[in-house]
Amino acid sequence: MIIGSRSSRLIAVLDMLEGAGREEKTGHDVEKGRREYRGYGYGYVSGEQMSRALNISREAVWKYISMLRGYGYTIDAKPRLGYMLVGVPDRLYPWEIMKELGECSIVSDIIYYGDVESTQDVALRLAERGRDSILVVAERQSKGRGRLSRRWVSPDGGLWFSLIVRPRISTGHVTLLSLATALAVCNAIRSLNLPARIKWPNDVLINHRKVAGILIDMSMEHDRINYAVVGVGINANVSIESIESRIGDADRESYYGSTSLMHELGRAVDRVRLTALLLKELEGVYSRLAHRADILAAIREVMLFGPVRVVEGGGEAMAVDGVAMDIDDDGSLLVKSDHGVKRITSGYVRIRHM
Ligand code: BTN
Repeated sequence: MIIGSRSSRLIAVLDMLEGAGREEKTGHDVEKGRREYRGYGYGYVSGEQMSRALNISREAVWKYISMLRGYGYTIDAKPRLGYMLVGVPDRLYPWEIMKELGECSIVSDIIYYGDVESTQDVALRLAERGRDSILVVAERQSKGRGRLSRRWVSPDGGLWFSLIVRPRISTGHVTLLSLATALAVCNAIRSLNLPARIKWPNDVLINHRKVAGILIDMSMEHDRINYAVVGVGINANVSIESIESRIGDADRESYYGSTSLMHELGRAVDRVRLTALLLKELEGVYSRLAHRADILAAIREVMLFGPVRVVEGGGEAMAVDGVAMDIDDDGSLLVKSDHGVKRITSGYVRIRHM
């Protein structure tokens, strides 16, 4: 486990390594942004320069360089020249996310795991202890949880995180929080030029296959939300086979096919950049939660309506076929069937292909 905060010295050392030699390069490469030029170094920075600039000893510089190498960074060292960064690992390290994210009011600290049972459970324990704005990320989860007690397959290459939020909204707005989260995920994926849509309440689909899911665990006090743990799972750089081969028998019945960003784009995505982009989107939608009408309008634009099968508490045997027409002001789904218009507030819907 790694706990990252914004003031880390490691970030300062990494910044200097990344900045080394950049001023000698001509404009456009550098302006493209931090991550485009990664994978090859611009130049060397000496241990002495770093020690002076950061006000730390040469031994401390060496310690940070060794730490970075331990984390998988490739750093070349040459006598008299110093250090050059030549390779960055594909990891969701806290400092990588923070560097990309900059200021963000909904994230104060990031906790990182290579392997964890479920980021959701870690975040829930922290929320119980009164913590706020903590992001828990993991490369892999061994007991990832999905909605309705399903298992969430979480192999390497995905984006699996949980965020503690304490929105000042009443319990009547709970569905709105979940829809707003789906909107943020949908927007982040759309910014990759992929046609993401929301399937009520908060699955995110591309061409009718699920690419992301959202799980929200909450604690209520009186009629207010005390805290919410927002769990987001995005099949980023995972192969579809690695998900499908691990779907358990219990979940097969409700399974309707998965996809991943890598599969849709034909290339891997930069997960650090995607995480930062999504957190910015979440910051935006959460700050507008009070403007319910705006959020609902944006959601309606990307929500999948049409023929559906609704499965509520009674299970598949009691499923009702109808046509999803709209969402209500409280976020419930309005489905027209032979029995009239039904407001769906829980359970799940399956798109019926006519
Ligand atoms: C669903 O569609 O059923 C919701 C899936 C939510 C999965 C995410 S991955 C990060 C977080 N940790 C978990 O154990 N679950 C959520």
